[in-house]
Amino acid sequence: MPNTFEHKISIAPMVDKTDKHFRFFARLLTKKTLLYTEMITAQAIINGDRKRLLDFDSIENPLALQIAASNPEELYQAVKLAEDWDYDEINLNAGCPSDRVSGNMMGACLMAYPDLIFEMLSAMKSATNKPITVKHRIGISSSKVTSPFMPYGEFKDYDQLVEFINIINKANPVRNIIHARIAILEGLSPKENREIPPLDYELVYKLKEDTPKANIEINGGIKDLDQIKEHLNHVDSVMIGREAYSNPVFMAKFDSLYDYKHPVSLTRRSIIEDFIPYIENLERSGENAHLALSHTLGLFQNMPGSSQWKRLISTPSRGSKSQLLREALSSLPQDILDKEI
Ligand SMILES: Cc1cc2nc3c(=O)[nH]c(=O)nc-3n(C[C@H](O)[C@H](O)[C@H](O)COP(=O)(O)O)c2cc1C
Repeated sequence: MPNTFEHKISIAPMVDKTDKHFRFFARLLTKKTLLYTEMITAQAIINGDRKRLLDFDSIENPLALQIAASNPEELYQAVKLAEDWDYDEINLNAGCPSDRVSGNMMGACLMAYPDLIFEMLSAMKSATNKPITVKHRIGISSSKVTSPFMPYGEFKDYDQLVEFINIINKANPVRNIIHARIAILEGLSPKENREIPPLDYELVYKLKEDTPKANIEINGGIKDLDQIKEHLNHVDSVMIGREAYSNPVFMAKFDSLYDYKHPVSLTRRSIIEDFIPYIENLERSGENAHLALSHTLGLFQNMPGSSQWKRLISTPSRGSKSQLLREALSSLPQDILDKEI
């Protein structure tokens, strides 16, 4: 049976960022937020080391698995295989603009083929009882991809977006996560595709008004709690990516959206103290503690102690990382360590 959870906010799937170490760390800051895996291809799930790709700690729930795929059969197989893990939701990536992903007919280029997305979502539904969601953009532009839905390589028109939603949502995904900018499939790097095409929140709000049955999550450039609250006046939920990663303390604010108060007040000290046993475990099992710590780089963002913290955790050393964290607790500015976050 799928787990049930109230949903208002999620941390975006981010390759090389939202691995199991980051997710454990994020969970120390927010109990309620839906977390995402990095994008994993259906082929990797089918042919790869599934335990390494899919294992996670139950503290990470609620957790969504994001899959990139190019055809319904493979996707069906991958979702079936992932049934052995307790993910709360399975998400289809139809928003990633990278050449590698598009070249393999995955990610944002799928938006040129809404019937195919419909089939893929339907295949996912027949493989699992878990909620199925899809993440996409507000449109795409391409000099290479054309389709009956997008004969001129352009999908930027609002009516076309409504038509797109109406086609793919016949599969009844429980949520459309919409990165509120188009993806330009050739000529821009993935990074530029997260910065250059302008954000259009109003368009997403209008889409929610015009397709009220669709459950819409907005994503892109959201940086503070007031912005989150404003978006929630217009759409069903919000997704935060880079700001949560680069300034993790931001995540400590998210549970207030659920009126949930942590039993003890959170401070940077309490977060580091709670992370130490996790790092010790990694060290005992010979896993990469340095990688896990790299996700905490922004813990002192915009605060005194920030450069000291960054230096401490990023300097390669052969010594114990958990010991290094203990020492950091006495050498970092004490008032910042003990300030409620
Ligand atoms: C380093 C990085 C990796 C990303 N990887 C993925 C991914 O695997 N799947 C995906 O759907 N989006 C991916 N994204 C896009 C984010 O999920 C999100 O849509 C985007 O960053 C916009 O949200 P933001 O402005 O809050 O960061 C990635 C973004 C970044 C910065």
